[in-house]
Amino acid sequence: MTAKSMDELVSLCKRRGFIFQSNDIYGGLKGLYDFGPMGVELKNNLKQAWWKSMVYERDDIEGLDASILSSPIVFKQSGHEDTFTDPLIDCRSCKSRWRADQLADGACAKCHSKDLTDSRPFNLMFKTSIGPVDDGTSFAYLRPETCQQIFTNFKNILDSTNRTVPFGIAQIGKAFRNEITPRNFIFRVREFEQMELEFFVEPGTDDKWHKYWINSRYNWWINQGISKKNIELKKVSKDELSHYSKETIDIMYDFPHGKEELEGIANRTDFDLGSHTKNQKDFEISSKVIDNQNSTTKLAVQNINDKKWFIPFTIEPSAGVERGVLALLNEAYTEDKKNSRIVLALKSHLAPIKAAVIPLKRNNDKLVSYAKNIKENLQKVGLGRVILENTGNMGKNYRRHDEIGTPLCITVDFETLEDDSVTIRDRDTMNQQRMESKDLIKYYKKYFD
Ligand code: GAP
Repeated sequence: MTAKSMDELVSLCKRRGFIFQSNDIYGGLKGLYDFGPMGVELKNNLKQAWWKSMVYERDDIEGLDASILSSPIVFKQSGHEDTFTDPLIDCRSCKSRWRADQLADGACAKCHSKDLTDSRPFNLMFKTSIGPVDDGTSFAYLRPETCQQIFTNFKNILDSTNRTVPFGIAQIGKAFRNEITPRNFIFRVREFEQMELEFFVEPGTDDKWHKYWINSRYNWWINQGISKKNIELKKVSKDELSHYSKETIDIMYDFPHGKEELEGIANRTDFDLGSHTKNQKDFEISSKVIDNQNSTTKLAVQNINDKKWFIPFTIEPSAGVERGVLALLNEAYTEDKKNSRIVLALKSHLAPIKAAVIPLKRNNDKLVSYAKNIKENLQKVGLGRVILENTGNMGKNYRRHDEIGTPLCITVDFETLEDDSVTIRDRDTMNQQRMESKDLIKYYKKYFD
């Protein structure tokens, strides 16, 4: 099941501490959101699942965490200074601003006036000044995508790890875009996180690797709990392709507001390393790179057979964390009419809280101390957050934990004090079983295996 509307998700997210409008107490700041106690856990679990599958479970990918502030030269060479723009139109009547493609009928979407300016390119990159003097000469960009610093670190990583192609560099981190019209909750925002892999391959093997990563990324989302009927692959048309791409396949998800991009998998050819390398003329570069007179480093590898140096091609799966969270919340949102409850049926590895330990009576020293001990032991297993709920109201606790997706609730009652047994309730089936406390850890580990 999925949510019936975006409003249902927005309401759940606020009510249960997943996502809040940023700067809320001062009226909010458009296009920015804060992740609350449940949101930060869900987001971390999603990022961890990605990192595990990209870095830990493979032997051909290294990790990176590079700086957000970047030299303007990086974005000159990447093409962003000249081309990372959206077409902007102003309404002269109500002063609102629009992206040209949002005004299909040539009228302002707010006041319906036709008194509009011509469309002009608006660069989406945020600038900030660097150092104590803001004289406009020394500025930096807040990166609009995480991958450029992967390219600039290519040689550092090659040299420090002895890798050669095919191999990849993975990074998760913040990206910033001054979107003209942020919208649809956390779908299009001005500050977000990306999970990006740049996978470097020998020219000629790029189509094969592109197919491999499309397949791999599609299956990964299915394994996170996205149902096949809500996800599809779409080839980006030639006129919509980014300047660096030879071919891009988008993974499209059926969000509550419509079918839109969740992740893009691009064949970026040799454009990026070719644009950032020194001595460009020494290499056979197939793409139309940006002339580089500043780079100090050769971003190339040597063919082991003929010893010729070449610029690798890059295959890039790039996913948005916020869009992933939105898709997963939507997939998991279940209205269980029979039992008058909302259940967030998240896969257990993504659930913000793995187990809630609940003493039947609030502030009862013996029950609370017994429950605390269970909580501490389960927490030590290291599978994620375990919580002690010392609120006493079982009905309310079950309702809350169903809505935040806690797979297991463990109740400590007066019988526990006599026979060392507890009750475990399963989120999805609502089944309750009695179990000896000594068997809990084994059961818990097996459940999340
Ligand atoms: N490095 C390639 C790149 O950045 P992109 O298609 O512009 O490509 C990749 O972005 C992913 O980042 C998108 O598929 C989307 O999930 C996410 N994303 C992009 N802009 C976003 C925004 N304004 N708000 C939230 N997520 C965004």
